[in-house]
Amino acid sequence: MRVPIVAGNWKMHKLPDEAVALCQALIPRLGEFHNREVVVCPPFTALASVAKALEGTGVALGAQNVFHEPSGAYTGEIAPPMLKALGVKYVILGHSERRQYFGETDELVNKKIKAALEHGLKPIVCVGETLEQREAGITESFVKGQVEAAFSGILADDAKQLVVAYEPIWAIGTGKTATSQQANQVIAVIRKALESLYDGATAAAIRIQYGGSVKADNMAELMQQPEIDGALVGGASLDAESFARIVRYDD
Ligand code: PGA
Repeated sequence: MRVPIVAGNWKMHKLPDEAVALCQALIPRLGEFHNREVVVCPPFTALASVAKALEGTGVALGAQNVFHEPSGAYTGEIAPPMLKALGVKYVILGHSERRQYFGETDELVNKKIKAALEHGLKPIVCVGETLEQREAGITESFVKGQVEAAFSGILADDAKQLVVAYEPIWAIGTGKTATSQQANQVIAVIRKALESLYDGATAAAIRIQYGGSVKADNMAELMQQPEIDGALVGGASLDAESFARIVRYDD
């Protein structure tokens, strides 16, 4: 059985003090959560203070990006061991905003995934089509290609460490969610692609989230779909009450 994973992507929001305050508001609202993993991904500058605020809570810490070299002359970059040293467990890679605004290619994302795994970080790898691609009817082939590129050269045992986030770009921050059936359908295609790359057992072990305008009032319906194993939540993760309600979608 795959344990659902709900991750909050705080993007470029929250100063360290604000991030700690958000954690302090969130923790009591989460209460005891069973049979799911909860992750928050603050910006780099708040990781250290959020790590402290999360101690003993069962909520895991994630980062939003990492470079693929362990150290060196790469001004402005952050290496996997630096995140590891702060207690980071997950790292979002290949988010569409990084692909769109920072020129991240499938090849770079694959390098980052390998580097993260090598240093004991679990990648949350984002894939998803644009509105134009959906309208042109190439969603499934495009997303399948992104998944194949992301997992290229990764062995089955390592592949099981990855989480995939299917995030249709047209649904991110727009208030337009994919219907739960649309999301489930593409996620099923992703799982099929993983089965072809590896085998049925490996594909069945990899968690695949949906992301894109997930809110407290659409989460339960999304989670009813058999292939959806959780959510990557942007905007709604910045509010303690709404993120807690998303995590507790089945209360
Ligand atoms: P959103 O963002 O929930 O604000 O649509 C999701 C994401 O970009 O991960």
